[in-house]
Amino acid sequence: MPHAIGFDIYGTLVDPLEMTHELRALAGDRAERMSELWRQKQIEYALRRGLMRDYQSFGVCTAQALRYAAEAVDVELPEAEERRLLEEYQNLRAFADVGPALEKMKADGHRMVAFSNGVEETARTLLERAGILDHLGGMVSVDDLGTFKPDPRVYEYLAQRLQSPVEQTWLVSSNPWDVIGAKTAGLRAAWIRRSPEAVFDPWEVEPDLVAGDLLELSRSLSPAS
Ligand code: LAC
Repeated sequence: MPHAIGFDIYGTLVDPLEMTHELRALAGDRAERMSELWRQKQIEYALRRGLMRDYQSFGVCTAQALRYAAEAVDVELPEAEERRLLEEYQNLRAFADVGPALEKMKADGHRMVAFSNGVEETARTLLERAGILDHLGGMVSVDDLGTFKPDPRVYEYLAQRLQSPVEQTWLVSSNPWDVIGAKTAGLRAAWIRRSPEAVFDPWEVEPDLVAGDLLELSRSLSPAS
């Protein structure tokens, strides 16, 4: 049976840690640490703003997290460089498995959208540049609700936008906290374990499916299997 599926973007379709290369000139051997901190803080800021009910877009979270990361590793971040890095953030490439897997899944008849904390316009630009926007049936952003994952309302909204019952709607994400959020809201969820070292939070909430990448996922969800 074809499914209704929302794909997380950052970490699942594209790799935010690719920014390490862009940070190298600025941060030298601190680039990796800075890149990791940038991503960690971006997620933390969104979580905190959701909890505090003090919404600012994911773009604001990303920019403020970048400033935090620079200061934490003691790197000067001129304004022009900050702008350049945030612009580059929209040029992240898709993981190699993403294009072929989405094509196959589209042919299999699944209804698929990107589903992200990111603002719709920003995310569309990113997906278009990464060459995968056309494989998807559209984009659902939490921005419409003014809150962030893992607020249960955003997962219910995904189901509503896919016109699918909550319990039959899938979230696909490499982020364990996103998978747990979706499961807790009553959806089905696949965890994309892109690295064998990735750890799933021991919350006694399990994904319905674990796959190493989207090609493996496409085989598991294939109507033929
Ligand atoms: C997203 C981030 C949280 O795309 O990965 O929603």
